[in-house]
Amino acid sequence: MLDRLPLTSIAREYGTPIYVYSASSIRRQAARLMQSLGTIGSLHYAVKANSNPALLALVFSMGIGADTVSRREIQAALDAGCPADRIIFSGVGKTPEELAFALEHDIFINAESEEELAAIALLRRGTHVGIRINPGVDARTHQYLTTGMDENKFGIPVDAAPDAFRLAIDAGLVPDTISCHIGSQIMSLEPYRKSLARLLELRDSLMSDGIPVSRLDLGGGFGINYGEGTDFAVEDLRALLRRDVPKGMKLSFEPGRYIAGHAGTLVTQVLYRKCYTRTFVVVDAGMNDLIRPALYQAHHTILPVTRRDAELIPCDIVGPVCESADCFAQDVPLPLPEQGDLLAICDTGAYGWSMSSTYNSRPLLPEVLIEDGEPALIRERGL
Ligand code: LLP
Repeated sequence: MLDRLPLTSIAREYGTPIYVYSASSIRRQAARLMQSLGTIGSLHYAVKANSNPALLALVFSMGIGADTVSRREIQAALDAGCPADRIIFSGVGKTPEELAFALEHDIFINAESEEELAAIALLRRGTHVGIRINPGVDARTHQYLTTGMDENKFGIPVDAAPDAFRLAIDAGLVPDTISCHIGSQIMSLEPYRKSLARLLELRDSLMSDGIPVSRLDLGGGFGINYGEGTDFAVEDLRALLRRDVPKGMKLSFEPGRYIAGHAGTLVTQVLYRKCYTRTFVVVDAGMNDLIRPALYQAHHTILPVTRRDAELIPCDIVGPVCESADCFAQDVPLPLPEQGDLLAICDTGAYGWSMSSTYNSRPLLPEVLIEDGEPALIRERGL
């Protein structure tokens, strides 16, 4: 069941594999953020987590802005009703065309290098910009999900930041924001505490050089519980910020996963079983539809939709793609599913569909949004 609607009826009506989203989950997660961080700063949903237009419209209708990383994400945010003045343009490799497009729409840019600052100044002097700092902090997450360490390509090292601010001013820009995003799926407060300390130190040294900073953009990264446990405690971050951030300083946040992650379920159907040394359950969804387990060894709870009363045996849930990495989970204790049974791969609303590909010439999946107990097809299956 998802929001009182049986997944079997959705699978029957629209076919499998399919992504199914719960609007009430998105509302719940967004509301928790608005009640905590939203009271001390502005929220900008990281569109890359899930850019389905219907989901974007839902998020923006709650008054949340957008964090974007490409021209098409900016366009998607505008099309879904996000006002331009609530859109942030981030990213380490923005093209001159993308920068020009953002400036034409008066969209705020977080620059990530001195050369990018020069490119912005060439297009429009007087522009207010943010400068993304790499604070050199370990976010204690998967190595592919850290972005704030010396070996990561993102931002400008904190020691080089004063020169970058000076360069921006000399080029005719107004760098009034320090931005930072230290990684994703972060579960503890400590990395935020450390990076905040570095940002505030930088802000003080800029102030004493006569460079006023009016905003800190702390990025996103708030982790969610993919099985046991709880989500990142956004309330604790709020308490830290209320205590440590000087009065009058504006704050921004760019959560993606926290808003969309729990909302999605990937519903897949069992094609074949192969029971030898291991028990393989071959399903119709593949790593091209959900790459997180293959790429980050990410855990997603897998539940049987079709109930069976049989002893639990450890099953490897694998897809049809011609790669050994095409495995969603190993040793999942399940009553051996029958052919045609449905399985639910949980918490796949963020970085699920948005990272999918057509590898093996497989079509992109359809998406359904359940709102008030009613399903709506919000993306057709690819051809
Ligand atoms: N702001 C910036 C500048 C970002 O690069 C990101 C994510 C976010 C905000 C939002 O982060 P979130 O709140 O969603 O953690 N594909 C990976 C996650 C990559 C995140 C990339 N940047 C995954 O599936 O876990």
